[in-house]
Amino acid sequence: MLTVLSRAKVNVYLRVLGKRPDGYHELETVMHEIDLADEITFEPDEGLSMTCGHPDVPCDETNLIMRAARLVRAESGFGGGARIALTKRIPVGGGLGGGSSNCAAALKALDRLWRLGMAREDLMRLGAMLGSDVCFFLEGGACLCRGRGEQVQRVPAARGIRYTLVAPDFGCATAAVYRGYRPDTAPAPAVSEVLRALETGDVELLDRLAYNDLKATVYRLYPELAELAGQAGRLAGKQVHLSGSGSTLFMTGGDPAAGSALRERLLAAGHCRDVLLTEGLAS
Ligand code: C5P
Repeated sequence: MLTVLSRAKVNVYLRVLGKRPDGYHELETVMHEIDLADEITFEPDEGLSMTCGHPDVPCDETNLIMRAARLVRAESGFGGGARIALTKRIPVGGGLGGGSSNCAAALKALDRLWRLGMAREDLMRLGAMLGSDVCFFLEGGACLCRGRGEQVQRVPAARGIRYTLVAPDFGCATAAVYRGYRPDTAPAPAVSEVLRALETGDVELLDRLAYNDLKATVYRLYPELAELAGQAGRLAGKQVHLSGSGSTLFMTGGDPAAGSALRERLLAAGHCRDVLLTEGLAS
């Protein structure tokens, strides 16, 4: 039996450069892996099956874990199977890459469990076929990602960069957010400055530079999220950022006392499911 952690990410920077002929959007994004994680166990079995106790996670063929398992079997010609159990802690539909992370974890774990010895390039190729963020999770740490997100370049990140996450009690639909996206003419900060803040661990600078082109669209489509962001910002006295296509909001820094005071106030105000203190991985 093999047990692995499947960590989440935040997008500290996300620019939409344009719409592509294939319907996807060309991105320039900086993702940072954080220590909030699901746990997945893999056991050899004759067939392929998965379980998960979370009501919003389908365990059928649409789940990215099952799709990864089928693809690895088809590519390698391996005839065996696995019994897979997922313990979900990453918010679903939260813009934290939970599904993509599970998918990357499954690719790596099944390669080990089934002793296939797949090359890194092959895992990356399969990852890109399964989802835009999967390659990031195969690489991990902090990455500058381009294309539809699948072209990943590892970048340095200092140890100890913390993020306080505000997880709403609803998720956002990624495809609907991209469909509703309208270009913004406001100037975005230069990505090189964001990378410098990550590398030096300058959290104040990172806070000033954190940027997400999808934010206006997400707040327009989900006004209750804009409201929650306003409340969180007023209560914490901090800038509130959006990860990916939402719904998770985040602030830089992670003071435990401030975090629990914020949790108590936001839970009472409604639409907040939890406030989570996390730390980015050194890269
Ligand atoms: O690749 P993934 O399955 O994670 O993407 C989910 C949806 O988000 C896509 O079907 C597409 O509508 C949208 N998307 C996009 N541009 C990207 C990534 C995702 O339009 N770069």
